[in-house]
Amino acid sequence: MEPFCWAECWVGRVRDPSPFRGDTTERGVSRASYIMYIVPKLDDYSPGALDRAVAELLRALDDETGALKNESDYKAFRDRWLARKNGILTQVNDTWLKAAPGPSKREVGQRVNALKARVEAAIDDAHGKIHASSADARLTAERVDVTLPGIQRPIGVKHPVLRVMDEIVAVFKAMGYSIGEGPEVETDYYNFESLNFPPNHPARDTQDTLFIAGQEKKPARDRLLLRTHTSPVQIRTMEKQPPPVRIVIPGKVHRNDPLDATHSPVFHQVEGLAVDTNITFCDLKGTLDHAMKALFGSSVKTRFYPSFFPFTEPSADMQVSCIFCGGKGCRTCKFSGWIELLGCGMVDPNVFDFVKHNGYDSSKISGFAFGMGPDRIALLKYGVEGLQAFFEGDMRFLEQFA
Ligand code: DAH
Repeated sequence: MEPFCWAECWVGRVRDPSPFRGDTTERGVSRASYIMYIVPKLDDYSPGALDRAVAELLRALDDETGALKNESDYKAFRDRWLARKNGILTQVNDTWLKAAPGPSKREVGQRVNALKARVEAAIDDAHGKIHASSADARLTAERVDVTLPGIQRPIGVKHPVLRVMDEIVAVFKAMGYSIGEGPEVETDYYNFESLNFPPNHPARDTQDTLFIAGQEKKPARDRLLLRTHTSPVQIRTMEKQPPPVRIVIPGKVHRNDPLDATHSPVFHQVEGLAVDTNITFCDLKGTLDHAMKALFGSSVKTRFYPSFFPFTEPSADMQVSCIFCGGKGCRTCKFSGWIELLGCGMVDPNVFDFVKHNGYDSSKISGFAFGMGPDRIALLKYGVEGLQAFFEGDMRFLEQFA
């Protein structure tokens, strides 16, 4: 006896052996919730028996098409019925037609042909329905609600420090200065030596430097570090360009300082340099006084205190009258009426000696230089409590400048 020929086989249908019903397999095929049709062997080829067998098959076909839920169900169903190897129609051909006794062959052949056409038409029909319903489902799922508000992308704004840097640069640009830039990873020569900080000179201690590791084999002047100020671009500019020079240099600088309200390992400077014949300390004072009035308003006053920088002689610290109390004294100016804002001075002849070959003969030319911290100016200008806020990237803080 064939293994599938149990008692039910005579009825032509057996129960789906799967314990799962009505759910979906891993490949997305719904498990049959109807009784799976199995092609029965025919013993009786009388027209009545053939009619019953055909009717049974068509009922099964109906049940199966009715249970199709999706495209994968449809494909499994189509293969089950139409597969050349062992599909139901092939089985019908083999089990009914080929096995039919000679006299019934014609009759069985006609029925099998008609059956084939019915089955193929039903499968085509099922495909149309499944396709339409899955397209409908997709359309519904993917429907775009055009009445929803669009995605609003916030427009970026300049960082407050960058804004102040740009303002400072604009003030000097209006006085005929050009803009220069230099590398943040700098050599010892440009950052210190050519600015008249001799090797091992204690003046270097004022700029707590971050050195690049693994430079020991190089000569001292070629060793790399993160620039501690924008002043190295003074020498870089004079190497490239003979006098006269008027240049402002905005940029990022680094020092080995932990972040607190007034210090940061990364901060900014705007450097300035003017070199020409007959440049005097008066030019320096007049230029910076004008720049401060342009930045903080025409009522602001400036004053200059003696100071020391290796690359300027004489050197000065410039103070502005307090922009909050107008000089009367308040918490911000520590009740002095003045705020210290930048370092400056007349370019030291020793600095010019490093670029003598390019026309910088200190007996013929002179110049002034200055360097200021836009972070500190931004603190004052926007009334911000501590430097940290500028570098933390907290949107709640930054959004206030939008
Ligand atoms: N480079 C100095 C610093 O970082 C600031 C400075 C002072 C720059 C005087 C100058 C200058 O050009 O003349 O402390």
